[in-house]
Amino acid sequence: MEQIELKHVYFQYPNGYLANEDLNLTVKKGEQIAIVGQNGAGKTTAVKLMNGLHKPSKGEVIVDGKNTKKFTTAQIARYVGYVFQNPDDQIFNQSVYAEIAYMPKYYKMSASEIKNRVEESAALLKIESFLDKNPFEIPYVMRKFVTIAAILATKPQYIILDEPTAGQDLKGIEVLADLLKILKKQNIGTVTITHDMDFVANNFERTVVMANKRIIADGKTRDIFGEDDILRESKIKRTLAGEVAVELGMGKCILNIPDFLQEWSKLEVKDGK
Ligand SMILES: Nc1ncnc2c1ncn2[C@@H]1O[C@H](COP(=O)(O)OP(=O)(O)OP(=O)(O)O)[C@@H](O)[C@H]1O
Ligand SMILES: [Mg+2]
Repeated sequence: MEQIELKHVYFQYPNGYLANEDLNLTVKKGEQIAIVGQNGAGKTTAVKLMNGLHKPSKGEVIVDGKNTKKFTTAQIARYVGYVFQNPDDQIFNQSVYAEIAYMPKYYKMSASEIKNRVEESAALLKIESFLDKNPFEIPYVMRKFVTIAAILATKPQYIILDEPTAGQDLKGIEVLADLLKILKKQNIGTVTITHDMDFVANNFERTVVMANKRIIADGKTRDIFGEDDILRESKIKRTLAGEVAVELGMGKCILNIPDFLQEWSKLEVKDGK
């Protein structure tokens, strides 16, 4: 079965802190999901379980039929690439090129394949002009893109993006939205953690909500934003278009501006009758 499956997963850190409780979640290959929830809800802990960086304290994580407990992190990471929340936890090479080339080299690919992968990944993130720079001397948001490119270059079956939208301007957000579309076409599963509800509303049909160590909702993004209790418990706010729509009594499930305009035009037709 081509999917990542979390079955009744609990995770306790070595200091005894229980960060995830009874997580149940399936991400099919080619599917794209967003994970949202307040700081400290347990999102990063949960996705690190998906690529074997953490092994469950209780329960099972199954990646394409393989129980992560029976494999090394390096083995699972070939299937599931994780882009760290903080790029400085991931980057260790002295040039952007070397950082992206590192894993393809480690996998002993040919020189031409390595070059192709670096150039292709850099182009997707629009960081070609940084290839000869020291990653520690470029802006934070670009360093984040370097880490995404480095994972793309390994061509995993699934990619986990931990807060790729943090600090990004509109251009960066557009690069990320385009990247998601390309990954979708390539049938690569993606899990994206973000605090940017506009990004969620505009790019994901399915959203998973975490609060206080648990998954409290998993469903259509539109339905999730319609549930006041879920929003309250996870301290998530609707998008501005969604908030305005609620204030105007246009319903709770308007996600973004195109939605809003569509509903608005229906109201005008009714008024014209
Ligand atoms: N190495 C660790 N040892 C002990 N506790 C930890 C460790 N790493 C994280 N935690 C705790 O686990 C809880 C969940 O952390 P996690 O990083 O998974 O949250 P998150 O939802 O990703 O938050 P954020 O939105 O701030 O990134 C937090 O209370 C955090 O302090
Ligand atoms: Mg996190």
